[in-house]
Parts: sequence; structure tokens; C-alpha cells
Amino acid sequence: MAIIAPSLLSADFTRLADEMDRMHQAKAEILHLDVMDGHFVPNITFGYALVGALRPMTEGITLDVHLMMTHPLEYIERFVKAGADMITVHVECDDDIQACIDSIHKHGIKAGLSIKPATPVSALEPYIGGIEHVLIMTVEPGFGGQGIMWDCVEKIPAVRKAATDHGREITIAVDGGICEENCAQVAQIGADILVAGNAVFGAKDMKAAYKRLSALVN
Ligand code: DX5
Ligand code: ZN
Repeated sequence: MAIIAPSLLSADFTRLADEMDRMHQAKAEILHLDVMDGHFVPNITFGYALVGALRPMTEGITLDVHLMMTHPLEYIERFVKAGADMITVHVECDDDIQACIDSIHKHGIKAGLSIKPATPVSALEPYIGGIEHVLIMTVEPGFGGQGIMWDCVEKIPAVRKAATDHGREITIAVDGGICEENCAQVAQIGADILVAGNAVFGAKDMKAAYKRLSALVN
């Protein structure tokens, strides 16, 4: 059983309140929010002010904040105050990873770590015993609408084993290139959460698309 997490990146930014209505109508449980700083990745999206603006419109929905930032540490508190339910930072960022995890936990929410396609699972080893979530990038982070990289999907079992070896139950998400053609296989390989931008917000009938994807991963 896996959960589809729509990614706001593919939403219509000119009508976000309507897009949140579509989230509710589809009965989506997790909204994935891609924060890009124009430095860690070659794209800029939005910050904590937008997360805060969406919070009143997303009651009952988990706000899953994915920080693609070179220096996330000093911003963590602001994303928490804006209403994030979980925050994921990249293991490749330039801040102290343990300090990021500790800061997220100090605010009482779930901490995740993400790895880019070229980063091996072993990079998570020092931290995996103390986090709740791992986000495996299955495209180069920065843009939606790219094709899935299967060699990254294949990291899932190794991440699960690393967590289990530390006696840890974590959720594993994949991010990038998820569509109706590949989601069942990705879920079968062991993903708990499949982030999907184009395939959900990009669909004309989001409710139907979300329903089809959810049926395929369950
Ligand atoms: C990519 C982002 C993803 C993106 C996925 O850098 O982290 O969350 O929205 O988009 P799709 O599903 O269109 O590949
Ligand atoms: Zn993401």
C-alpha cells in the first residue's frame, strides 16, 4: 500500500486556492512542497510565506516540505511556523545535517533526508537511525516533468535495509517522473509515498488522475 503525494510544482500558480480545492476533492492526504533556492538547484519556486498562505486551505492535509536549499538550517523554524508537518533536507546541502535534523525535531515535526540521483544510499548511514523519512530523488532535482531514473528507484531496498538495521521504521518516498505507467512497479519495489507533479496537478481531471494512480499503487 502506498500513498500518492501531489507536488505543488505542477499546480496552476495563478489559482492556488482552486488547486487546494482540487486537493480536497481528490481526497489527497499529503501535499508535497518543493522549495528551491536557485543555488542548490537551478530553479526558484517559493518560500515559507506561501506555505503559510496554503495552511488554512489545507486542513487535514500533511504539508510535506522538501527543501532544495544549500543552507536550509536557518529557515527551518520559519517553515515550521508556517505550518509544515514534515521537513526534508538534502544530505548534499552545505549545512550540518545533524543540526538540521535536530532543529526539525526540536519543533516536534518529522525529519526527512533526501538524496540526489548521484548520491549513494551510504550517505544516509550516519543519520538514518534518527530520522522518520527518506526521499529518494528519481530525477535530477529542479524541474517537474522529467523521466524516471530506474537506477534510483532501485535504491529503495537498500534504504529500507539501512533503516531496519538501525531498528528504525521510516517512510520512503520517491520524487520525480512518477506516472500511471510506472507507479505500480515503484510501489512494489517498496516506496511508501510516491510524489507526483505532472501526473496529478498536471491532469485536467485531477480527482480522476489521483484515483487511478492510488488504485495502481494499492
Ligand atoms: C523535482 C521536484 C519534484 C517534482 C516532481 O525537483 O522535487 O517534486 O515536482 O514532478 P514530476 O512528478 O512532474 O516529475
Ligand atoms: Zn520534491
